[in-house]
Amino acid sequence: MTQDRLTLKRPDDWHLHLRDGAMMEGVLPHSAEHFARAIIMPNLVPPVVTGNDAAAYRDRILAARPEGSAFEPLMTLYLTEATDPEDVRAAAASGLVKAVKLYPAGATTNSASGVRDFDKVRGVLEVMAEIGLPLCVHGEVTRPEIDIFDREAVFIDEVLDPLRRATPGLRVVMEHITTAEAAAYAAAGDETLAATITVQHLMLDRNDMLVGGIRPHFYCLPILKRGSHRPKLVEAATSGNPRFFLGTDSAPHATDTKENACGCAGCFTAPVAMACLAQVFDEAGALDKLEGFTSRFGPAFYGLPENEDEITLVKGAALEIPDAVETGAGPVTVFNPGRPVQWRVA
Ligand code: DOR
Ligand code: ZN
Repeated sequence: MTQDRLTLKRPDDWHLHLRDGAMMEGVLPHSAEHFARAIIMPNLVPPVVTGNDAAAYRDRILAARPEGSAFEPLMTLYLTEATDPEDVRAAAASGLVKAVKLYPAGATTNSASGVRDFDKVRGVLEVMAEIGLPLCVHGEVTRPEIDIFDREAVFIDEVLDPLRRATPGLRVVMEHITTAEAAAYAAAGDETLAATITVQHLMLDRNDMLVGGIRPHFYCLPILKRGSHRPKLVEAATSGNPRFFLGTDSAPHATDTKENACGCAGCFTAPVAMACLAQVFDEAGALDKLEGFTSRFGPAFYGLPENEDEITLVKGAALEIPDAVETGAGPVTVFNPGRPVQWRVA
């Protein structure tokens, strides 16, 4: 019998870009509609570096929530070489901050204030290991001689593995993994290690982005990889291994900044993420594994309770995906995988 209905504990998004101001007001309702909570990325301009910055940003998010929404932003701090370990400790102790984000300097959008010299952040990492605060890692090296398609795999060997060995007990989330190498490294890790996976990396490979014309709305970082990696990511996501959970990396940019001679990186997946994931898990014959991936393994890693309410997904006629969401900062093109998505949130 084919299944056409699925009820899950309400999901959370363990990696989300909400931006600020008019853009945030426009995109926030699309996450709040399906997700109870989200780990909010701190790569604003200027970045969210201190506990005070995070408290102010949280207040702005709460003020922008739609009427009646209980969406809970889980705040992060942007790790810089000047980050004060005691500020991190206090922000975590108060419950305000749930993770610290590591961007290697220059790796992606607004990462210029990120880390160049890891010796300079040693004190912060040691405090984090002591108090159990997760480090969310954008895992790509930035050396210009390393090919963009190799940057994740090289990062694991050159940076991530040495960093974890040097800081025993540090809890690490390998964010938005895109390669077989990253999936294997995460699967082989202990309980201090987890990995998030995005919707676009489960649905697409680089051919989808580049064959027959360049599709800027599929351009994100880490970049979509060779097709052989995608099945490994689907296998990890649908395995029921609690080390793998959802982080959409939904990253809105105004459409004209992506359809551009030098287009921005990021896929705006929030409105369609749950429908697309149901499609992927259904195609993999693994609908019974979706709830763990979207709603149970993330809270377990972060030491938070699972959500109490539920959402229902239904299968039927192909989902009509709107071209764009209007925001006060311009239209933002909605991720469309270019093939039918038969599931929707009821
Ligand atoms: O595609 C991406 N967009 N990857 C990132 O790491 C950052 C994000 C953004 O902020 O736009
Ligand atoms: Zn991101």
